[in-house]
Amino acid sequence: MQFIDLKAQYAALEKDIRAAIDGVLAHGQFIMGPEVRELEAAMAEYVGVKHAIGCSSGTDALLLPLMAWGVGPGDAVFTTPFTFIATAEVVSLLGATPVFVDVDPRTFNIDPKALETAIDEVVAAGELRPRCVIPVDLFGLPADYDELRAVADSHGMLVLEDAAQSFGATYRGRRAGSLGHAAATSFFPAKPLGAYGDGGAVFTDDDELAARLDSIRVHGKGSDKYDNIRVGVNARLDTMQAAILKVKLAAFPGELERRQVAAQRYSQRLGNLVETPVVPDGYVSSWAQYSVLTDRRDHLQAGLKAAGVPTAVYYPKPLHQQTAYASLGYSTGDFPVSESCAARIISLPMHPYLDEATQDRVVDAVAEVLHAA
Ligand SMILES: Cc1ncc(COP(=O)(O)O)c(C=O)c1O
Repeated sequence: MQFIDLKAQYAALEKDIRAAIDGVLAHGQFIMGPEVRELEAAMAEYVGVKHAIGCSSGTDALLLPLMAWGVGPGDAVFTTPFTFIATAEVVSLLGATPVFVDVDPRTFNIDPKALETAIDEVVAAGELRPRCVIPVDLFGLPADYDELRAVADSHGMLVLEDAAQSFGATYRGRRAGSLGHAAATSFFPAKPLGAYGDGGAVFTDDDELAARLDSIRVHGKGSDKYDNIRVGVNARLDTMQAAILKVKLAAFPGELERRQVAAQRYSQRLGNLVETPVVPDGYVSSWAQYSVLTDRRDHLQAGLKAAGVPTAVYYPKPLHQQTAYASLGYSTGDFPVSESCAARIISLPMHPYLDEATQDRVVDAVAEVLHAA
């Protein structure tokens, strides 16, 4: 059994993927070839934004807008400790300071009320300037952007949506990727829209920001790449990955439907055994992960492993407890919801090619392990 079955997806899309790869081999424009712009146009339309800017990873998709906004030393950037390190890492790389804010226990996403409190504390301390918030759409479920935008607007702060896991999700009729001043997504192979290597994209409606991002991803280029008008990076999306992603994007709406069916089926069958994920009214998750909570997480994971069911724990250690962030001075107990989730969460196999028989094997194994305890 696969945790995320990329081989099954390849079997379904093989002909078109091979043709797309052959197309790139034939024209030979491996860097910024036509498929990059074609993919960007298709993604912008799907997400419902004016601009999609392809880049080399989800991490760079977070870094580029922060660079474009000039985020740096003295700036406070608020995010949750219950995320992948990349969300905070880009802030530190630019010399700004990550300020952690606990999550909502139902959605695992940043708590807008806790954000307000954290901003007030930073203002009162008087050392840092509240500049930006990076809400993370964890496991594919968007954060509460209406609430978050209200808090951010009242402090003149920017919102960078970390949509690495939520491509395809919707929030009150708007797609993930369109919910902040800019958004970052990831095409890491295991993501809802995954490439065959690293890749990412930034989405925005802001024309000026889009132009800056287009420059920064190619060494701060001006009229051409040897005219350098700002300090940038090499963060381009490979043509080959763009060609593959174009094929996968065409198949994506159907895959997203299948994820909804699988998630619903899990929730119907697992509700008496574990705490199943909450999707508030008006939200649609992209189900990057199907994650449940149980006090007997380690027991469940070991039992499922013995039964041949692959699982994963996202994330076993919140960022404020990571060695890399020891210098920020946080302590265990500072973010009790994140810490409790980290101790109790486990993700089950989830992908669009999960058939009912396999899913039933997962559910039966969960029941057996938890009842046998
Ligand atoms: C929430 C979150 N943010 C950022 C990233 C970084 O994306 P990438 O691995 O493409 O750099 C990931 C993915 O790993 C992620 O899950």
